[in-house]
Parts: sequence; C-alpha cells; structure tokens
Amino acid sequence: MKKIILVCLSIACVWAAGINDESIGLRKVSLMDENKVKIEDINYSAQPPGMSTRFDRSFENAPPMIPHDLDGLLPITTELNMCTTCHMPEFAKDVGSTSVPKSHLVDLRTGKDDKGMLDGSRYNCVQCHAPQANTEPLVKNKFHPNFRDEKSKTSSNLIDILNQGVK
Ligand code: HEC
Ligand code: HEC
Repeated sequence: MKKIILVCLSIACVWAAGINDESIGLRKVSLMDENKVKIEDINYSAQPPGMSTRFDRSFENAPPMIPHDLDGLLPITTELNMCTTCHMPEFAKDVGSTSVPKSHLVDLRTGKDDKGMLDGSRYNCVQCHAPQANTEPLVKNKFHPNFRDEKSKTSSNLIDILNQGVK
C-alpha cells in the first residue's frame, strides 16, 4: 500500500514541475487568478440589421454567424426576444432577413410540428448563433468545408436531410 502512494506522489511532482499553469490556456495568464486579464478590443460588426453582409457558412448546415450589430437586441429574456421580430417566417420577407429554417418550428425530440410557432428549444438564439469578430485565429487550422451543392453554401436544410443514411 505504501509503495503505491509513493509512486503517485512522485508522478504528481514531475507533472507540476513540467507544466506551468500560465502556458496551458490560450490567453497565457495564470489560471488561478483572472482578475488582471484584459479583454482585447474585439471588432464585431457595427452594421445594423439590413445593412450587413452575410458571412459564408462554416460548413453544410452550420448555424450561420450573426453578421449585424446586436446593440439593443440582447439580452433575450422570457418577456422579450427581438430576434423573432425579424427572423420568424411571417416577418422575414418584409425586413429582408433570412427566415428561421423549418427545423426551428419542429420539436426534434418527438417530431411534433409546432405549426408555425418557434420551438422552445430554439428560443435562445445566441446559444447557437454567434456574432463574428475580425480577429486573428488563436489556433490555426486547415479545415475546408465541403458543400454538396451550391445552395447549401448560403442556406440550410437540416430537417430535410436529417435521416439521410438512417432509413
Ligand atoms: C431589425 C431586424 C432584425 C433583428 C431584430 C435581428 N435581425 Fe438578424 N438579420 C436581419 C437581416 C436584415 C439580416 C440579413 C443581413 C443584413 O442585412 O444585415 C440578418 C441576418 C442574420 C443572420 C445571418 C443569416 C444568414 O443567412 O447568414 C443571423 C444568424 C441572424 N441575423 C441572427 C439574429 C439574432 C440571433 C438576432 C437577435 C439577437 C437577430 N438576428 C436580430 C434582421 C434582424
Ligand atoms: C440549438 C441551436 C440553435 C438555436 C437555439 C437556434 N438556431 Fe438557428 N440554426 C441552428 C442550426 C444548426 C442551423 C442550420 C441547420 C438547420 O437547422 O437548418 C440554423 C439555421 C438558422 C438560420 C438559417 C436559415 C436558412 O434557411 O439558411 C437562421 C436565419 C436562424 N437559424 C435563426 C435563428 C434564430 C433567429 C433563432 C432564435 C429565435 C435561432 N436560429 C435559434 C441552430 C440553432
């Protein structure tokens, strides 16, 4: 019994000496105290809805990034969700926005059609859709998306292809 404890302790000592906690995170600061962390000035889109340019989709059926300013639109609360006032199908055409896709009007767990209403699981839009900032990537990667057709580069159809390869 005594021998095992000794071995474990010596492994812990080697690890502690080898990796400094300031070199673990992307910010290169101590993980024990973030009080001195300065958030960099992040350059999000300042264009209001209707004036911005849509971003390329990251991959087929990825949730599109938010191209416009979010000033005055957040937070989303149980009483108020500004996003729906422009992105529900009944308003989208008039304001020139992209309508939420069919997948957002269905309960995906039961398959129940919400009959044109937004499904509760989609209420908090910014849980999945994020604004995009103009910054250098902290970690480079070589990912290139493959789109199966031209249309899927600018619009989504998850609900139509969800069971592909399953049935
Ligand atoms: C005043 C109307 C309006 C409001 C409110 C609004 N949007 Fe938009 N949204 C637009 C328009 C218009 C576009 C198309 C790009 C543009 O012209 O700015 C757009 C584009 C988008 C896109 C990109 C769609 C694509 O096809 O690439 C996403 C995602 C989005 N908005 C999410 C949101 C979210 C999330 C909220 C709430 C926090 C929100 N929007 C609030 C009008 C609005
Ligand atoms: C749980 C994650 C999630 C939430 C919450 C969510 N979305 Fe999405 N959204 C997605 C994904 C994934 C796609 C692309 C695949 C699909 O469903 O068709 C998408 C697609 C879209 C599109 C593109 C539609 C098209 O035809 O190209 C718009 C616009 C959009 N969402 C707006 C919203 C708005 C507005 C809300 C809040 C009312 C919202 N979404 C909430 C994940 C989410």
